[in-house]
Amino acid sequence: MRKDRMFWSTAALSMVFLIHFGFTISTVGTQGVDVCATCHVNATCEEKADGHKVCNCMYGFVGNGRTHCQDKDECQIGANKICGNHTACHNTYGSFYCTCLTGYHPSNNMATFIPNDGTFCDDVDECLVQGICGEGAQCSNIQGSFNCRCQVGYQLENGQEPFRPSQDKSYCTAVDCGPPQSAAHTVRLSFTGTSYLSQAVFGCSEGFRWKSGNTTAVCGAERVWEGPSLVCEEIKCGDPPVFPQATHQWNGSTAVGSRVEYFCNEGLWPMGGEHMSVCGGHGSWTNVTLQCKEVDCGEPPSFPHAAMLWNQSSRVGAQVHYQCNVGFYNAGKGNVSLCTTDGYWDPVDILCQEVDCGEPPSFSHAAMLWNQSSRVGAQVHYQCHVGFYNAGKGNVSLCTTDGSWDPVDILCQALCGPAPWLPHAVVEWQNGTVAVHRCQDGYRSRTGSNISLCGPAQTWHAATLVCREVKPPISKAEVFNESCLRWKAEMNGGHHEHYTVQFVGSRAYQKAFQDKQMLVFKSGANRPELCMNLLPGTNYSINITAQTANFSLTISANTSIQAPPVPHVTFRDVEGSCPTLGLHRTIHPQDAISIYQVFVLLLEGKVVFDCSSPHTPHFYGCQEPCQEYVAAEVQLAGTGRKLFFTVGDHQWYGGYYNAPLENGKDYYIILRAVSQWAGVRKQYCVIWAKVKGASYIIESVTLLTGGSIGLVAFIVLMGYSYTWYCKKQ
Ligand SMILES: *[C@@H]1O[C@H](CO)[C@@H](O)[C@H](O)[C@H]1NC(C)=O
Ligand SMILES: *[C@@H]1O[C@H](CO)[C@@H](O)[C@H](O)[C@H]1NC(C)=O
Ligand SMILES: *[C@@H]1O[C@H](CO)[C@@H](O)[C@H](O)[C@H]1NC(C)=O
Ligand SMILES: *[C@@H]1O[C@H](CO)[C@@H](O)[C@H](O)[C@H]1NC(C)=O
Ligand SMILES: *[C@@H]1O[C@H](CO)[C@@H](O)[C@H](O)[C@H]1NC(C)=O
Ligand SMILES: *[C@@H]1O[C@H](CO)[C@@H](O)[C@H](O)[C@H]1NC(C)=O
Ligand SMILES: *[C@@H]1O[C@H](CO)[C@@H](O)[C@H](O)[C@H]1NC(C)=O
Ligand SMILES: *[C@@H]1O[C@H](CO)[C@@H](O)[C@H](O)[C@H]1NC(C)=O
Ligand SMILES: *[C@@H]1O[C@H](CO)[C@@H](O)[C@H](O)[C@H]1NC(C)=O
Ligand SMILES: *[C@@H]1O[C@H](CO)[C@@H](O)[C@H](O)[C@H]1NC(C)=O
Ligand SMILES: *[C@@H]1O[C@H](CO)[C@@H](O)[C@H](O)[C@H]1NC(C)=O
Ligand SMILES: *[C@@H]1O[C@H](CO)[C@@H](O)[C@H](O)[C@H]1NC(C)=O
Repeated sequence: MRKDRMFWSTAALSMVFLIHFGFTISTVGTQGVDVCATCHVNATCEEKADGHKVCNCMYGFVGNGRTHCQDKDECQIGANKICGNHTACHNTYGSFYCTCLTGYHPSNNMATFIPNDGTFCDDVDECLVQGICGEGAQCSNIQGSFNCRCQVGYQLENGQEPFRPSQDKSYCTAVDCGPPQSAAHTVRLSFTGTSYLSQAVFGCSEGFRWKSGNTTAVCGAERVWEGPSLVCEEIKCGDPPVFPQATHQWNGSTAVGSRVEYFCNEGLWPMGGEHMSVCGGHGSWTNVTLQCKEVDCGEPPSFPHAAMLWNQSSRVGAQVHYQCNVGFYNAGKGNVSLCTTDGYWDPVDILCQEVDCGEPPSFSHAAMLWNQSSRVGAQVHYQCHVGFYNAGKGNVSLCTTDGSWDPVDILCQALCGPAPWLPHAVVEWQNGTVAVHRCQDGYRSRTGSNISLCGPAQTWHAATLVCREVKPPISKAEVFNESCLRWKAEMNGGHHEHYTVQFVGSRAYQKAFQDKQMLVFKSGANRPELCMNLLPGTNYSINITAQTANFSLTISANTSIQAPPVPHVTFRDVEGSCPTLGLHRTIHPQDAISIYQVFVLLLEGKVVFDCSSPHTPHFYGCQEPCQEYVAAEVQLAGTGRKLFFTVGDHQWYGGYYNAPLENGKDYYIILRAVSQWAGVRKQYCVIWAKVKGASYIIESVTLLTGGSIGLVAFIVLMGYSYTWYCKKQ
């Protein structure tokens, strides 16, 4: 339908069917002139049959062919006439062409055409184009164009129908009715949506029922719900039913769910059944099955030994009380019965039994006078035994209705009163006229009677026993002066006692040792003493036994150790830094707790050596110059009879360093023997040697001895000396 410009060739033009508006311009005859040469550019020269030449304007031009040949507008005749219906005519210089109008299609399928070539313009069916009108719209073709209209269930937005979406900016949208509105007293039951033809079904609310109309609402094309036309009416039950035997309580409401309660008339009793009626959904009251009856329980039952307290009423709720007769008690748990709605008296758990007080209580020193009756009102008499009297105020008890004997104030006491008191004694037995006494534990009586008697004047002849404390025959035993024994003797009547003293001695440091002795002697002393021949350094267990009293006592005692045995030492005055010294000793049991200590004393200034001092200075512990130190310590256990010691050999002996002696200095070497046991320490010292240049006189050494002093004898023991260690250096 677009219109294109076309250029037509002369050949094409020559084929054009000549229509009648071609003009023939007759030439003005001017002989001798070349007519053809004067033809207009746009004219042709034509030679007539008579030989004349004429200029004819070319096809599409009008004019005289010589001076004037102007374009002829063929279109002015009218497009319909020249090109056909629904066409447009387009004039060109010297020609024209045709095109179809918008909405029409040329039958030659070309953009342009020329008349009379058989081409015509046919209407185009635009509706064949899918979706030309948009969603929800319907297309209708018209000559040269098309129209759109919304389908049912759709509505137009913008403008008016018919419309064309591209030019009107109109379109169709689906109808939406929105949520449906319910009518009065209705409820929506189902609902399919809010679009066109959606349905919503309604029903009547509770308490209402259908009266007329349609329950369905439909979403219409006009965007509104049509219906429902439903009309619901309220359900009413009317007045509740009336019964002759009952009254009812009702608030007057006849609507569904209203309640009516029925009560039996006065004097009648409900015998079961439903007493409530409810207005139901079908507009009727539910059935009431309440049954009301007159109740009479008749005469209440009677029970043996029981009285009845009753006001003669036998209606429902009436009461009867029961009470056991005098001398009887209720062994059951109840005493009341009620007239029940089923016309019977309640079962009552009453059981009247005769009261039995059982055996009367007994009292000490009292006899009972009783005829074996334990009924209510039975009596019992009490009577004190001979030698006793009743200190209380009563002697009779009665069996009471609560099943117990009356309390009775009886108290039988001996005629002489309580038995007499004796110091450190207890009453073993008494019966009012006789009391037997006994000394309390730890006491003993040697003389006197242990029996008190109640005399005729109601006074006691008291027992004469004297209770004295029993003391151990041996006490406060002790050891004195290390080997003597004394103790406190308790003769307890006797004049002499035979004693046995056994003692067993043992030594922890000497397993094989045992000292066992026994002494027997007789003594009447209050503090016997005895000296024994006990060995030193021994643990004794001493057992003293008093033979007649058959009593023994054991004590223990420790004897102290002796000074250690003196070794035989050869005093030597030697030169050289490593003198070897020897000694000779005897093996002794006390070796197990004895040691030898070698002291080195530097002879400078005044030298004082205290043998009894427990001090054992160490070489590394002493101040420069080292005045005194222990060079060696030897345990005597396992040591032989002969002992050699090289002073200054750099070795360690028993934890002490045997330091080398300094050149040019003088020393004394002192041997100390020490025995120590059970906290006692005994020692003995000898001067063993004097070493190197003796620039000091021997008198400058003072030996302070706490133990024994050994005088150094010049006993040559070996005659030679060893210097093993020092030689090796
Ligand atoms: C003759 O016709 C042509 C077109 O065919 C045109 O262009 C030209 O101007 C015309 N000449 C005159 C003198 O009119
Ligand atoms: C053109 O239209 C006219 C009027 O509408 C009609 O009478 C005529 O027949 C049409 N011509 C053709 C060739 O269809
Ligand atoms: C109620 O309305 C619906 C929708 O309009 C229709 O299909 C139906 O037949 C109607 N029912 C009666 C009982 O008229
Ligand atoms: C009566 O009682 C019913 C329930 O049984 C209640 O729903 C209703 O509101 C009452 N009406 C009046 C008037 O009190
Ligand atoms: C209520 O009573 C009527 C008549 O007495 C009877 O037909 C109906 O079955 C009864 N309804 C019920 C629920 O008992
Ligand atoms: C008897 O006692 C009952 C209660 O137990 C009472 O309701 C009734 O009125 C009494 N009757 C008479 C006649 O006193
Ligand atoms: C009935 O028993 C109760 C206690 O169980 C008592 O308090 C009441 O006194 C008794 N009544 C009679 C009449 O025995
Ligand atoms: C026992 O004595 C009572 C009065 O204390 C009397 O009533 C009862 O009959 C006597 N019973 C016998 C068996 O004698
Ligand atoms: C009981 O006591 C009364 C006086 O208190 C006395 O007369 C009577 O003999 C006594 N009876 C007996 C059995 O002891
Ligand atoms: C108490 O015992 C003695 C010796 O057994 C006896 O002789 C005396 O009768 C008794 N006295 C009483 C009151 O029983
Ligand atoms: C009382 O003394 C007698 C004789 O002296 C003796 O046989 C009896 O065991 C003693 N009784 C008591 C309880 O000590
Ligand atoms: C003491 O010696 C007596 C008589 O030899 C003996 O019966 C008793 O058992 C001894 N006691 C001890 C503790 O050894």
